[in-house]
Amino acid sequence: MTTQLPPGLLTLADHEARAAQAMDPAAWAYIAGGAGDELTLRANAEAWPALTLWPRVLQPLAGGHTRVRLAGRELAHPILLAPWAHQRLAHPDGEVASALAAAAQGAGYVLATQSSVPLETVARAVLGEPGRGPLWFQLYWQADRGFNLALAERARAAGFEALVLTVDAPVSGVRDRERRAGFRLPPGMGSAHLQGAPAAPPAPGTYCAGLPAHAPSWDDVAWLQAQTPLPLWLKGVLHPQDARQAAALGVAGLIVSNHGGRTLDTAVATATALPRVRAAVGDALPLVVDGGIRRGTDVLKAIALGANAVMVGRPAAWGLANAGALGVAHVIRLLRDELEMAMALTGCRSLTEATPALLTN
Ligand code: FNR
Ligand code: LAC
Repeated sequence: MTTQLPPGLLTLADHEARAAQAMDPAAWAYIAGGAGDELTLRANAEAWPALTLWPRVLQPLAGGHTRVRLAGRELAHPILLAPWAHQRLAHPDGEVASALAAAAQGAGYVLATQSSVPLETVARAVLGEPGRGPLWFQLYWQADRGFNLALAERARAAGFEALVLTVDAPVSGVRDRERRAGFRLPPGMGSAHLQGAPAAPPAPGTYCAGLPAHAPSWDDVAWLQAQTPLPLWLKGVLHPQDARQAAALGVAGLIVSNHGGRTLDTAVATATALPRVRAAVGDALPLVVDGGIRRGTDVLKAIALGANAVMVGRPAAWGLANAGALGVAHVIRLLRDELEMAMALTGCRSLTEATPALLTN
């Protein structure tokens, strides 16, 4: 494992620039790219900086902290690592390195169904780490209910504490950058959890090559919830109406996300959707938001707009490519430090003080 950070990495953007140089160009196109013309990818990243802060001065700051409550636990800070597939593309230690880095930094970790390392290996590596954040498993719905339940049960038995069902990708989106680069998964890097997954029976018609016939529905969400003792989060909710429906079903929480701009291009930026989703569900549900979060000020704004926590996807990939676990830990540390500074400079002693009043628009 790399034990030294390359010099000159002071921001997440520095990590991005270095990873772009260091990685294989096709793998870089897969990680960095988005769907279509990448308008949502850019909109996510531009929406947070476009919100302006309205700082208060001379506030009492002694005893300040970044702690938040999420899913019945107190966390040291509100940053989690989003699920992203095939992490060994960025570093041979893959998901184990990312999960260890998250644990060392007290960040939550969400393991992808399409992990390059089996879930048991990741759980074994981190469950005993003191101060670790939550450990969740992201589920990509497969054509057979029983297979999904067996995978959920496997995750529960290994020690995963919640399921995150991704609902915004019944098909994977038009990934032009990835296709132009000719990206292919290297041999031997299949998905650790989908061996033996039932092949989707042929569906009538040609709409999206029959793929969406096996996409999850609200009925499947209710079914899974009734079958598994694990709390169930939905990832990829943007519309207030969907948020209300999820709240009515009693899910554990929502992840307001457009998949980092990788599925539907021109979908609404998450910074725009978040306050409307919060307004729709009131205090009923915890909300996590992701997409384009690159600065401590972005984290603070997300909390001010109603998120309980945030996730980052690509920045963890950059850190992993640059220096394995150390690089991922460094990315989380940079965001935490920037968040603390942003809080102090806006007069927030704790994140409960971050409300819409902190923003001018
Ligand atoms: C993802 N994302 C993702 N989401 C998911 O639910 N299951 C998955 O397997 C993946 N895979 C994946 C691969 C790669 C390379 C990326 C970059 C992203 C989406 C991810 O969880 C998250 O929503 C976004 O990455 C957040 O946006 P940022 O932080 O990357 O801008
Ligand atoms: C992606 C899929 C794996 O975004 O979710 O690449």
